[in-house]
Amino acid sequence: MTDLTSLRLSYARAELRRADLKADPFAQFQGWLDEALGADLLEPYAMQLATADASGRPSIRTVLLRGVTPEGLTFYTNFESHKGRDLSANPQAEVVFFWAPLERQVRAFGPVSRVPDSEADAYYHVRPRDSQLAAHASDPQSAPVPDRATLEATFAALDARHPHGTVIPRPAFWGGYRVHVQEWEFWQGRPNRMHDRFRYARQGDGWHIDRLLP
Ligand SMILES: Cc1cc2nc3c(=O)[nH]c(=O)nc-3n(C[C@H](O)[C@H](O)[C@H](O)COP(=O)(O)O)c2cc1C
Repeated sequence: MTDLTSLRLSYARAELRRADLKADPFAQFQGWLDEALGADLLEPYAMQLATADASGRPSIRTVLLRGVTPEGLTFYTNFESHKGRDLSANPQAEVVFFWAPLERQVRAFGPVSRVPDSEADAYYHVRPRDSQLAAHASDPQSAPVPDRATLEATFAALDARHPHGTVIPRPAFWGGYRVHVQEWEFWQGRPNRMHDRFRYARQGDGWHIDRLLP
């Protein structure tokens, strides 16, 4: 097996200075996201979402960021999935983006709420028809399924039940969540593990910024 202890990169692509930071972390994030979107990365809008259940047991998975507004970061999923059950018991989460070619990481933490039904309906109906059917087929998401054929048969039955051109109703168990970010961290890799890190923490109506030790 490869000796992992000998593998290392020294990041040298860029630096992040206090003077570079925008006062509003959402603007800072939007700027970095735009750069990632322009950098020909594979799904730079994918983020790892960490949740925990009532006992504190953590779990993490990847979801797609579907909106950035001053209200927060929005993603869509199944309310009865593992993450959905965690969020019912403990409605807070942290997300992380790692844009390796840019040598950047962003973390965002905050309480989580469900997005309004009208917003979830609007997003559900712009998704491709097959994705809409797949949301129905994965009920409840994260439950065991005996085999691939069972899943395909469920999809085929849904396909037959909803003729092309008809509106497929959004399942009541599927919708959006919003992370109302109270803490952001922007990380830029630097040579020799002397990385630049800045944390924005909510303070009244504004944000307090600290540089953090790498
Ligand atoms: C790139 C990528 C994007 C994904 N996007 C989503 C998503 O937006 N929503 C979702 O529910 N699952 C998404 N998944 C699947 C989740 O990672 C996960 O397997 C699923 O939601 C079940 O997670 P849970 O059992 O922890 O609830 C994505 C997976 C990958 C690899």
